[in-house]
Amino acid sequence: MFFNIPSHSGDPILGLLEQFRSDPRPHKVNLGVGMYYDEAGAIPFLASVKEAERRVVDAATARVYLPMEGERAFLEVVAPLIFGAALTDQLPLATIQTIGGSGALKIGADFLHRFFPQKNVWVPSPTWDNHIGIFEGAGFIVKSYPYYDPETRKFAGDAMLATLAEASRGDIVLLHPCCHNPTGVDPTKEEWTSILDVLEAHQLLPFFDMAYQGFGAGQDEDAAPIRTWAERGRDVLVSLSFSKTFSLYGERCGALCIRAGDAESAGNVLAQLKLAVRRNYSSPPTHGMRLISTILNDAELRAQWLAEVEAMRVRIRSMRSALAALLRKLQPAHTHDYLERQTGMFAFTGLSVHQVARLKDEHAIYAVDSGRICVAALNEGNLPVVAKAITEVLRST
Ligand code: LMR
Repeated sequence: MFFNIPSHSGDPILGLLEQFRSDPRPHKVNLGVGMYYDEAGAIPFLASVKEAERRVVDAATARVYLPMEGERAFLEVVAPLIFGAALTDQLPLATIQTIGGSGALKIGADFLHRFFPQKNVWVPSPTWDNHIGIFEGAGFIVKSYPYYDPETRKFAGDAMLATLAEASRGDIVLLHPCCHNPTGVDPTKEEWTSILDVLEAHQLLPFFDMAYQGFGAGQDEDAAPIRTWAERGRDVLVSLSFSKTFSLYGERCGALCIRAGDAESAGNVLAQLKLAVRRNYSSPPTHGMRLISTILNDAELRAQWLAEVEAMRVRIRSMRSALAALLRKLQPAHTHDYLERQTGMFAFTGLSVHQVARLKDEHAIYAVDSGRICVAALNEGNLPVVAKAITEVLRST
């Protein structure tokens, strides 16, 4: 039966990680997948997570099935991260623990498709490649709205608003509340107001995908567009990933939070989310969730974790500035200001597919085909090599 199954070219991001791991060149640099590396070039094991792990292991018992929606102690601390404590208390919410941010998107997509199969899903152009795959996989027609202008390297606000104004009532709009992946270009506060106004005027349903809370401007600042929308009393879906912010990529822990019309509808939505979980994987895993829940439920560990996220944010910013400074020296005729304007883990360099291939083949530097590099993987040691290699591929192509 399987003789005629075609192969697949591989995932544009995770496939790169496979290639990087099997590359024998000792000086290789991975700027492909979005993972935070510390100054020593290692994925950090956060001190708050280490302490939480000690406590969780000390208290370990047999692992029974968790409830389909996840453990209460975890769920209670998730929504306030998104909406802030005061607002959370006033909102009719359905929250579940998920298998990473991808799992939250998948459960959200399955739930939406079950009840609104005729709606379109709008994603920014460009966006994280898997957004399209997940929503198409759930059965939706996925359309894109302009987001980024490659000429100016800035947010294409007018084009985005004009396109969304043409969307049909009830269509679903995928938004990155902060640290846009892959461009690093985020709307300003005023631009967010215009976006939310269009969503409201045309009765569109936002689905915010928040994978980098705290890596942009700060914990509260990064969630601001979601909070403003919720304050307007409107429905919303939010997927949350803890992979990057807790440096717990392999634990696959995230959450999906839906603000529904009232307490009764939130209860019904939760029942449907549980059904979607059951149909996909029955119930979520324990370990990563317990680490995160231990940290967020303990004032001291929570403060330590917040400081660790802030330190990551500051280091990413300093790497942006350092790369821009080096490129200014090596390519004085060009402006590199865009690097410092962008936020979060990624920089959108404008490198072509061909130039990205040359970076890999000739310099053992891995980037995504779109020209996205992970700034969070730069350090004082690899910066000069990366800046020189980028300059070389730009000069001779
Ligand atoms: C990325 O964009 O590199 C990360 O979100 C990892 C992934 O799953 O693609």
